[in-house]
Amino acid sequence: MERSREDRPSDLVAALARARSPERPGPDTPAGTPVRAWPERPLPIPRAGPAELDLAALLRLSLAASDASGRLRPAPSAGALHPVDAELVVGAGCSLPPGRYGYDPLRHRVHHVGLPSDDTPPGMTAELSVTARRSMSHYGHRAWPLLLLDTGHAAAALFLAARALGAGTPEARLDGRTENPLAVVRVPPPEVQSPTPPADGPGIPEPSGGPPTPAELLARRSTTPPLPGAPSREALRAVLATAEGADAGHLLRWCAAVGPPRPGLVQLAPDGTTLRRYAAGEARPTLAAWAAGQAWIADAGAVLLAYGCPADADTAHIRRAHLRAGFAVHLAHVTARRHGLAARPVGSWQQADLGAALGAAPDRDWVVHALALGTRHADEENPT
Ligand SMILES: Cc1cc2nc3c(=O)[nH]c(=O)nc-3n(C[C@H](O)[C@H](O)[C@H](O)COP(=O)(O)O)c2cc1C
Repeated sequence: MERSREDRPSDLVAALARARSPERPGPDTPAGTPVRAWPERPLPIPRAGPAELDLAALLRLSLAASDASGRLRPAPSAGALHPVDAELVVGAGCSLPPGRYGYDPLRHRVHHVGLPSDDTPPGMTAELSVTARRSMSHYGHRAWPLLLLDTGHAAAALFLAARALGAGTPEARLDGRTENPLAVVRVPPPEVQSPTPPADGPGIPEPSGGPPTPAELLARRSTTPPLPGAPSREALRAVLATAEGADAGHLLRWCAAVGPPRPGLVQLAPDGTTLRRYAAGEARPTLAAWAAGQAWIADAGAVLLAYGCPADADTAHIRRAHLRAGFAVHLAHVTARRHGLAARPVGSWQQADLGAALGAAPDRDWVVHALALGTRHADEENPT
């Protein structure tokens, strides 16, 4: 399906440089429709037969809106603008006949948009792309990194839903090589294993403690700030280990900013089982200033940071780094909840050259994404 020109940045390198600059976005503009105008009539997704991949359940646990406004979804989104569109390429062994379908997350319906090709594998392959206008309506020139991060979160939501349902081993393609789709998640039917190991390396990325339950995925929310309370070292270690484990190929570096009694930056030691300090000094107020001046970040218990993506990164690298960061932060959010932590993704970063701030070479280590963390008490849980 043809995308509008706005959905393809003419120059992503320039778009990222501008998003990282101090320039402020202008007033909000119309967001357009929250769902792509898929052709053909909406079709319900049939109930799955035995040994079939249950597409209705997979989409309910990953992309479907659970309220009429469309805000409440299993995946988070910057500004709750949900720019990610999913086209499903369905092969044998699924609860829909083979074909190509557009997904409407508000109505939880599909639109038949084409025939499958002869080489369509069994199971479902979700092709994710964005309608940039939705996010640009609020974030203006700051939207492009957020669009890519959002796509990484949506890919992770599909990936985790497949794990929660016991489908075949899912694979996420987040290599940044194509613009449309930006990311691809392939989910084989139950018991049919992927023909190839995950493209980005061995092991299945997982939250600490194993695959999530369906209830866990539906319960995920971004905690409303403030997020006070320092996480335990064990919880921080687990969150960092999940993020690094999900960042296949180690495209990014990961650390966490912590406050008193020993404020500074901590990272996972090479043994993967302990934390080590690698910078001293209180970083959270600086992070708050860099994150579009969101003052609450200065008082968050800790802030997990993904950084890298140098100023001279090319288009594919920029896409890959942001897709990976969104994917990894999504899994880290599940781990954080399992350790009783409150958490909220933070994606808008300006002038956030962490490497330069620490006295290293400038333009190498920019903050790409973050997860603010605090301690959680049952009576403080976000009611939404
Ligand atoms: C890529 C990304 C960036 C985000 N950036 C911020 C942010 O800078 N500040 C913030 O308060 N929330 C941020 N959020 C959280 C969203 O506001 C939140 O996901 C959205 O309001 C929907 O709420 P929910 O996550 O509880 O479903 C971000 C979420 C994503 C996925």
